[in-house]
Amino acid sequence: MSKVCVFDHPLIQHKLSILRDKNTSVKEFRELISEIAMLMCYEATRDLPLEEVDVETPIAVAKCRRIAGKKLAVVPILRAGLGMVDGMVNMMPNVKVGHIGLFRDPDTLEPVKYYFKMPPDIKERDIIVVDPMLATGGSACAAIHFLKETGAKHIKLMSIIGAPEGVERMQKEHPDVDIYVAALDEKLNEHCYIVPGLGDAGDRIFGTK
Ligand code: PRP
Ligand code: URA
Repeated sequence: MSKVCVFDHPLIQHKLSILRDKNTSVKEFRELISEIAMLMCYEATRDLPLEEVDVETPIAVAKCRRIAGKKLAVVPILRAGLGMVDGMVNMMPNVKVGHIGLFRDPDTLEPVKYYFKMPPDIKERDIIVVDPMLATGGSACAAIHFLKETGAKHIKLMSIIGAPEGVERMQKEHPDVDIYVAALDEKLNEHCYIVPGLGDAGDRIFGTK
């Protein structure tokens, strides 16, 4: 069974409270999504392996530790996941970024992949899939399924808000994928929006409503 990690850091919780507010402007919403992603990235990469290196300071040689050449990739789910990329890249400037676009077929209701562009060595990388909302879990489960089809094995999911329904579905379909959220909300409404949530993340990031 995968681990579900809820980040209760005061900075994350404070920013999330402003993010949820319906009166928060598009500008501030974008900035907050990015800042929360940055803080979550810091926590979600806690397990990266380190190696010892000798560094010459102006005074002497210091025994230091650096990330041990771990190959990482961040994969946003279009469109709202894009809002989290800047924050991740700020923390990990050399990280590779793959993109996955999905829509739901109106007849079959199955997720259809309309865009999929990954770094060529994606299957050797540790992947963090980012999408601010984990509602029914349909999008995240499908995205991770398509990533696994490439041979990818080490995948984490980072969302800002999760619903219990989405977490349950993820744990059932992808028990190997750990889930990181800033909040676990109460439920979904009849339109599959998270309650209380923050509304439509894509529309609020891109100002399309
Ligand atoms: C939102 C969100 C997730 C999805 C979550 O995207 O960003 O991708 O819904 O819902 P689910 O867990 O029930 O699949 P949306 O489909 O609204 O597209 P957008 O990002 O283009 O706005
Ligand atoms: N997608 C969103 O953007 N918000 C929700 O609450 C659920 C799905």
